[in-house]
Amino acid sequence: MKLNIKGITIFVEDDYLSMSKKSAEIVSHRIANKPNSVLGLATGSTPEGMYKELIQLYLNKKVNFDNITSFNLDEYYPINKDNKNSYAYYMNSHLFNHVNIDKDKTFIPNGKTENVDKMCKEYDQMIYDVGGIDLQILGIGNNGHIGFNEPDVDFELTTHLVKLDDKTIEANARFFANIDDVPKFAVSMGIQNIMQSKKIILMASGEGKAKIIHDMIFGKVTPNLPASILQLHNNVTILLDKKAAKLIIN
Ligand code: GLP
Repeated sequence: MKLNIKGITIFVEDDYLSMSKKSAEIVSHRIANKPNSVLGLATGSTPEGMYKELIQLYLNKKVNFDNITSFNLDEYYPINKDNKNSYAYYMNSHLFNHVNIDKDKTFIPNGKTENVDKMCKEYDQMIYDVGGIDLQILGIGNNGHIGFNEPDVDFELTTHLVKLDDKTIEANARFFANIDDVPKFAVSMGIQNIMQSKKIILMASGEGKAKIIHDMIFGKVTPNLPASILQLHNNVTILLDKKAAKLIIN
């Protein structure tokens, strides 16, 4: 099912697998149209299926990552890139190790840097120097965060250090042995980086995301729900499974 609400294209797919296939299809079309695309990549459990599908498309010679540059949205801070919970480790194991992407052109905020401010400025500059992000992939936190832009966000920020919301620490504790192991901070692209992307796709699956998806689309644009800012972007596609779309379809 395809909907258009407030200028946002919304695909409602039957289940997680078909949502993942649909998003992989959008990404691979984008790459076919512009082989040197700059991708903005997301982590979390939601895009895992999409990455699996992209690997499959690559193995079937339907997509070629040869000329792709990528920037990840965020990384925990502090964290070592060899830590299994780092987003650097996640990207290698879920995508980069399995496709022909040039790892020298994949960028993830450095979770170990001593000088965070400098690293953030350099990250913004690198995105700017390659001409900006062509396609930004997003998930959404239960509290409406995108990347790690937590409620009460300053919409003007670019890449910056974030103190993680207690709810985010709780939600992400499932990946760690102990909740106390979840880093208290992260480095995240800001809303400004995300809004400057030429095209954005946001994915959500499962009933737990139904309310936040409803509110980000129908509510007012507010820093209390960071993803609501996407209502003001002119090229956003939202991909949902039926459960996440529960409150926006009858
Ligand atoms: C994490 C990430 C986000 C992600 C979100 C949702 O904290 N920083 O980029 O979109 O939480 O995660 P999940 O897809 O596992 O629900």
